[in-house]
Amino acid sequence: MINPVLETIGNTPLVKLQKINPYSHIDIYVKLEFFNPSGSIKDRIVNHIINDAIETGQLIKGGVIIENTSGNTGAAVAMNAAIRGYKAILTMPDKVSIEKQNALKAFGAEVVVCPTSAAPDSPEHYVNKARSLATETPNSFMLNQYDNKKNPEAHYKSTGPEIWKQTDGKVTHFVAAGSTGGTISGIGQYLKDQNSTIKNIMPDPFGSIYYEYFKTGVEPEPEENTYQVEGVGEDHIAHAMDFSVVDEMYQFTDQDAFGMARKLAQEEGIFGGGTGGANVWAAIKLASTLKEPAVIVTVIPDNGVKYMSKFYNDQWMLDQGHTL
Ligand SMILES: Cc1ncc(COP(=O)(O)O)c(C=O)c1O
Repeated sequence: MINPVLETIGNTPLVKLQKINPYSHIDIYVKLEFFNPSGSIKDRIVNHIINDAIETGQLIKGGVIIENTSGNTGAAVAMNAAIRGYKAILTMPDKVSIEKQNALKAFGAEVVVCPTSAAPDSPEHYVNKARSLATETPNSFMLNQYDNKKNPEAHYKSTGPEIWKQTDGKVTHFVAAGSTGGTISGIGQYLKDQNSTIKNIMPDPFGSIYYEYFKTGVEPEPEENTYQVEGVGEDHIAHAMDFSVVDEMYQFTDQDAFGMARKLAQEEGIFGGGTGGANVWAAIKLASTLKEPAVIVTVIPDNGVKYMSKFYNDQWMLDQGHTL
């Protein structure tokens, strides 16, 4: 579909870190995904999936788009639905920032807030809630971002080629934390298909099951929600996540993610979310292990504005036991 706002999705800037990378033999580039029109990387997958759903007749005129989302996918769905004239119903856990909830309502979407503490098999878990709404609602289409192969495909077809082109094929390492895994799986696969020596590194918050699954091959019991960073880490294995393209994983703390996000804003003028902080933290940790020159690329998935009442608020940081 040709629409001037949807046309602005993708082709985001790739900028080199100037100050906070202490390793002069390594270049670290960050792809500023908050330049996408709804403010995050999720515009890419949502537009790709909706285009396909319309083409294949899964989404018809007057239909309802339903999705479970930690916020950014919801904003992308809500914006896309508003432009194309569909109703959107979005479920999310209650740990998601109020700014993100309100952003969806601003686009006219209906928001269903579910308890973060609900177990993955509970009907109140936000993923199960979206599934039951999709079953009950006539003419509904669920994006199913966690298990839909069109999710990594969107990155394989857009973000991956952009990174390859923007680095003139010089990228040696790609770093991205994951939730659905679409970003790391799609970009990671594309880059390895261009040059099989490229390494993909995935940071994961302490408390997420991905790290242990990657290291042992066994899916651990999910822990009680133990981390505050929004949008990465998981309590279940998403089918969009392809661990075969991941070469190494690092575990990070909320302090690592929030501290680096704040540093990025203060020293580089890059105002991103906590997952951007985690990605840059991991890129610098990776750089510390590399003896040879390298070109590390990572993503800043979303905009810092969404976290003004959280880690960009000094009092909030101190109240949560973090340092400034
Ligand atoms: C802020 C943020 N960062 C990173 C991600 C992870 O992306 P992916 O789902 O492609 O693994 C998400 C996903 O929701 C997100 O909202």
